[in-house]
Amino acid sequence: MPRTPPLPYLKWHFLLLLMMLCRLSHNSLADVGTAAQYSPPYIPTECYGSDSSPFPTSNLFAAAGDGVWDNGASCGRQYIVRCISASTPGICIPGQTILIKIVDHAASVSSNPSAPGTTIVLSQTAFGTIANSTATSINIEFQQ
Ligand SMILES: *[C@@H]1O[C@H](CO)[C@@H](O)[C@H](O)[C@H]1NC(C)=O
Repeated sequence: MPRTPPLPYLKWHFLLLLMMLCRLSHNSLADVGTAAQYSPPYIPTECYGSDSSPFPTSNLFAAAGDGVWDNGASCGRQYIVRCISASTPGICIPGQTILIKIVDHAASVSSNPSAPGTTIVLSQTAFGTIANSTATSINIEFQQ
């Protein structure tokens, strides 16, 4: 009679491995932060000066806060952004996710962001796609 494999033991380790992989990928992919919005004029930018051709035609772009700015290396990086909550309920538009491109440094944008010190500052179009555009600041989940 063939030896039966120690199935419960194998299953347990497989589950553990799966859980570790999920944790790893979750931690390395998604971050949480805050987002404000800003309005035109959007140029000049710290990334591209007065050249607006690198701006995505979708108008889904953002200025990087100091944590994301990376000394300018973040210029052109793309992030998936989702609204997760705000100071009052009902601000986030459920199920909306956007892909934005970093075009500027939040500390030096040409118009005042709706809130200071946020992780990123979204264009009006970007902000209004994931949240009620009357809000000044939202909590976001984002990943490159
Ligand atoms: C957005 O927020 C304003 C002010 O709180 C509210 O009057 C309006 O109904 C909201 N719009 C949507 C689409 O929820």
